[in-house]
Amino acid sequence: MERLDCVVKSDMKELLFDEETIKNRVEELGKEITKHYENDESELVVVGILRGSTLFFADLIRNINLPILIDFMAISSYGNTSESGVVKIVKDLEADVTGKNILIVEDIIDTGKTLKYLLNYFRERGAKTVKISSMLDKPKRRLVEISGDFVGFEVPNDFIVGYGLDYNQSYRNLPYIISLKEEVYKKLLQRTDSFKTSIFK
Ligand code: IMP
Ligand code: MG
Repeated sequence: MERLDCVVKSDMKELLFDEETIKNRVEELGKEITKHYENDESELVVVGILRGSTLFFADLIRNINLPILIDFMAISSYGNTSESGVVKIVKDLEADVTGKNILIVEDIIDTGKTLKYLLNYFRERGAKTVKISSMLDKPKRRLVEISGDFVGFEVPNDFIVGYGLDYNQSYRNLPYIISLKEEVYKKLLQRTDSFKTSIFK
């Protein structure tokens, strides 16, 4: 067995979405997005949030049958998942968003803090509209009121990796989406206050 497969086999709790399922869903999302914007003359800027959205982003934009611009932002969120989480921009946009339609592409909506911050950010800078496309949604963990406009799948309150999502920067290159066994991500919990507070409630 290849090395990556070995690791996945020992760390995986459940295979949530295989390659074919992801491909079909991303095609549907691309069609929904195309339909939503097709009669809007304003420029559409699709903004990928690094690094988790990269695989989804690359697949999704190939399914948007409209002229678009692309840009990227990187966000860090200290104590991201706790009440006190602070969101900070690590890499800002290059595009001017004034009067444009912005589609934010994220990997997962968890507490919702990152997206809430980004919605305000784009509105303050005069975007015409701001919508959210997230591959995954973990609604049980929500701390602020936020919902995606074009969402791939709902996931359980587990630690999810693959298709761009990481655990300690690993697993991002898996072409499918899995949940990790508790003992695997517990190591992370011991180092941060992140998931400790709410995941084991
Ligand atoms: P939020 O601000 O709490 O919604 O944080 C969203 C970010 O946390 C995502 O963009 C991910 O990078 C990260 N995240 C949240 N849940 C998971 C998970 O289950 N696996 C991997 N990353 C996650
Ligand atoms: Mg992320």
